[in-house]
Amino acid sequence: NKRVRVHHLAAAKAAGERLTMLTAYDAPTARIFDAAGIDMLLVGDSIGDNMLALDSTIPVTVDELVPAVRAVARSTRRAMVVADLPFGSYEAGPEQALASAVRMLKEGGAHAVKFEGGVRVAEHVRLLAGAGIPVVGHIGFTPQSENMLGGKRVQGRGDDGAERLCEDAVALQDAGAVAVVLEMVPAPVAARVSEILHIPTIGIGAGPHCDGQVLVWLDMAGMGDWSPRFAKQFAQLGAALQQAASGYASEVRSGTFPAPQHSYES
Ligand code: KIV
Ligand code: NA
Repeated sequence: NKRVRVHHLAAAKAAGERLTMLTAYDAPTARIFDAAGIDMLLVGDSIGDNMLALDSTIPVTVDELVPAVRAVARSTRRAMVVADLPFGSYEAGPEQALASAVRMLKEGGAHAVKFEGGVRVAEHVRLLAGAGIPVVGHIGFTPQSENMLGGKRVQGRGDDGAERLCEDAVALQDAGAVAVVLEMVPAPVAARVSEILHIPTIGIGAGPHCDGQVLVWLDMAGMGDWSPRFAKQFAQLGAALQQAASGYASEVRSGTFPAPQHSYES
């Protein structure tokens, strides 16, 4: 069994090997990213703005995520599949977090769950870890709280901000989290958090000193209609796909497709 498991995360950090994570929301992308050797696939609530044409992650529900988690889990052999707990599915308390996480594992086939917050969700993490459910934390900019945070803003700036971020990270680790996502955090602060923790940090807009990196796959592949500063485009898939669709349309219109080799004889 070559599945990436929680002990591999700690081992990678100890060995100084960087972890790779991408989002995936469906079977074809999960199959491709798994074949590419991506260590962890996140079925993120970013499915909302990236796949479901919603304005943010806030309206996303567990019912919407479960089929995506199932498609991703069934399409991987190696990657650890991490399911996001969407807004409203864990804030009421540890028991609610447990119920939502159980759905992600039982119905979705996820191997771990992720949810946002530090000290305020430490008890949630503790209950899940005790129940045998690996939890990935998520601190720094937390999109589900964007209304409170005042938009997409870098978090952990200044001495107080950095101190609070470190406290959140340590609280998650002490509660049993297996890794922590750091989103939109100044690079030196992310470096400090990565130094303090023995579990891996996975950065997004958090500089080069994290133990791993994560990106929304559409941002990474040039597939989105907008791309944040911290995302590098490693391909122009949107343009390539548009070209494929126009090529198809023009051959259908001109009658060059389908050719004899695409047709059946009587
Ligand atoms: O939902 C998501 O894609 C995420 C990552 C950006 C970390 O939470
Ligand atoms: Na998310």
